[in-house]
Amino acid sequence: MIGKLNHVAIAVPDLAAAAAVYRDQLGAEVSKPVAVPEHGVTTVFVNLPNTKIELLEPLGEGSPIAGFLGKNPAGGMHHVCYEVEDIRAARDRLKAAGARVLGDGEPRIGAHGKPVLFLHPKDFCGTLVELEEV
Ligand code: CO
Repeated sequence: MIGKLNHVAIAVPDLAAAAAVYRDQLGAEVSKPVAVPEHGVTTVFVNLPNTKIELLEPLGEGSPIAGFLGKNPAGGMHHVCYEVEDIRAARDRLKAAGARVLGDGEPRIGAHGKPVLFLHPKDFCGTLVELEEV
């Protein structure tokens, strides 16, 4: 059901510093910061030949990554995003199998302008999983 790895997301306390690490030390192509207020984050995309790294910094009150950074103050891997062809069909199949979909279970528009859903880490090997329809 899942297709390509779309991105790996890393939560960071300082987005400019993290972007500089990827650009200057690792020699990667990084985007300008993009604020995504509906998801409570500012993102920088690191474009790799086969996938992307999404650097996430909290934006505003009650950011969904604030708690994660509280437990991981230096930052850390936050989620992996897999591509699916039909996100509602994927959701229905996972829910029927007992997996927990976060939020109200309805896809929202993610940082790339495509519908996304998040799956509970306890159901997926301790890793928060994002599904993105492509
Ligand atoms: Co993501």
